Amino acid sequence: MVLCTEVKKLQELVKAAKSANQTIGLVPTMGALHEGHTSLINACHKENDLTIVSIFVNPTQFGPKEDYKQYPRSLKKDCQQAENAGADIIFAPEAAALYPDKDMTWVEVTGDIVKVLCGRTRPIHFRGVTTIITKLFHLITPDKAYFGQKDAQQVEVLKKMVKDLFFPTELRIMPIVREKDGLAKSSRNVYLNAKERQAALCLYKSLTHAQDLYTHGERNPQAICEAVRNVISAEPLSNIDYIEAYSLPGLKPIGAKIKNKILVAVAVKFGTTRLIDNVVLGE
Ligand code: PAJ
Repeated sequence: MVLCTEVKKLQELVKAAKSANQTIGLVPTMGALHEGHTSLINACHKENDLTIVSIFVNPTQFGPKEDYKQYPRSLKKDCQQAENAGADIIFAPEAAALYPDKDMTWVEVTGDIVKVLCGRTRPIHFRGVTTIITKLFHLITPDKAYFGQKDAQQVEVLKKMVKDLFFPTELRIMPIVREKDGLAKSSRNVYLNAKERQAALCLYKSLTHAQDLYTHGERNPQAICEAVRNVISAEPLSNIDYIEAYSLPGLKPIGAKIKNKILVAVAVKFGTTRLIDNVVLGE
């Protein structure tokens, strides 16, 4: 496994792989790796000749009051974990290597897709994500890139960007990996104290309830969101940011009745830690 921190070195490695006709898979991450990330790396390793994992806490996707500075960083441990999961190259640059100038070029998806859900409380977040993913896609030109359904809105936004800008990369979307008790794995789970960790189980419980209602024939999206809200607000430590449902693909509003696939997504704070989770109904 090669650890690479320089853009130029990465370009050389990519060039060598391309001339050897190797297929390249990319797994973009912000580090603090857990089994959610390693499931993507495993899948990438199975489907490509060369697996590149980027580890980069991307400053442009954090708002001024968000956790950019305290975001967990553990490069040494991450390298070990990524290698065990099948990474061939780890690209872990300094921020200045990817953002060399104060004046810069943004790549931004517009429209409701970036204004609903997390876009409402994190207005610059997706512009940061699409900009960094564009930089990585241009540097690496991967055949396939791997993302988790955990960040369902990120997936929809990136699908739109790839389509609009004719990126030749195929997006591969992997299912949410959970702890044994149902909590979705997240690098931010380390911020939770024991009581908040226990309280956070209401997210999975509420989404399982939504799935049950749907399975038993409920087709009213409002009724499903209300039921999810009831489960989460019964937990005293929860502080709801949003509970919303949109159609898939594209995150369009749903009418009074669910007809096609929908996303039910939640963002809830426990103490100062904001967690997101979701379920897709009608798959
Ligand atoms: P990060 O939060 O590190 O996540 C990297 C990838 O792992 C994302 O595609 C995310 O959806 C996926 N992932 C995280 N937790 C998961 C889980 N429990 N199950 C399955 N997949 C999971 O998402 C980002 O970084 C950044 O926005 C990034 C795309 C790297 C751009 O900076």
